[in-house]
Amino acid sequence: GSCLESVKTAIDTGYRHIDGAFVYYNEHEVGQAIREKIAEGKIKREDIFYCGKLWNTCHPPELVRPTLEKTLKILQLDYVDLYIIELPMAFKPGDAIYPKDENGKFIYHETNLCATWEAMEACKDAGLAKSIGVSNFNRKQLEMILNKPGLKYKPVSNQVECHPYFTQPKLLEFCRQHDIVIVGYSPLGTSRDETWVNVSSPPLLKDPVLNAIGKRYNKTAAQIALRFNIQRGVVVIPKSFNPQRIRENFQVFDFSLTEQEMKEIEALNKNVRYVELLM
Ligand code: A2P
Repeated sequence: GSCLESVKTAIDTGYRHIDGAFVYYNEHEVGQAIREKIAEGKIKREDIFYCGKLWNTCHPPELVRPTLEKTLKILQLDYVDLYIIELPMAFKPGDAIYPKDENGKFIYHETNLCATWEAMEACKDAGLAKSIGVSNFNRKQLEMILNKPGLKYKPVSNQVECHPYFTQPKLLEFCRQHDIVIVGYSPLGTSRDETWVNVSSPPLLKDPVLNAIGKRYNKTAAQIALRFNIQRGVVVIPKSFNPQRIRENFQVFDFSLTEQEMKEIEALNKNVRYVELLM
């Protein structure tokens, strides 16, 4: 139930871009929040930008459209605004989201990313997704798609970890050249949940530079981290279940950082991921 309340608070606050996925197991709550806000007359469907994701067990081309249709059924929406391949590697198809063998090792699955991409293109043609993109793709994987013979649609975006401690300078430049928007996940440095986060990297929001710059504008380190990415053209998808912080994270459009401050923040880059995706 906390997701339902948070999405409703977010929409009331002014957020329109909602980043979801089947594997977050809360698409039913997100869909309900959107539908309730439409029913209230607060928004129209076309005001919302919902991003859904194709999970690793669903890469075989024949599974792509049924998987998206399942997401739409859970959301109770007719289309998603963006559908992305969540990760560039595949797991064995089936009911297990994290299929493992008797030794606890992940069971991978050989698929062809270009064939998966063609099935994504078909979803766009069918009107089930307005746009299609990818996530966690490196340059080589993007090039594989971009250089695919007969490519119909380029990925419009690549969602990757991106924040002041992991600024992605090279990938950002490559994506800029190819008109691919970078969507930065964990823009606040994650929840530091040890089950999936590398907590040996220090907490982003304690950073002295971010806090000192924040003081100048009467803003928090979180707001400075978000503003930094927005100002360099990176889309941010901060996550919070706390109404006050949901509102705080939206108060980033009433100030701008100087060129000098942008450089200072860029210099914080450690090239260390919080989200290592070791699988
Ligand atoms: P909470 O849900 O209690 O607000 P990321 O977006 O980088 O994944 O970070 C999400 C984490 O950051 C969550 O644990 C969230 O906790 C916390 N968080 C979200 N907004 C803020 C904020 N403005 N200041 C401090 N922590 C925040």
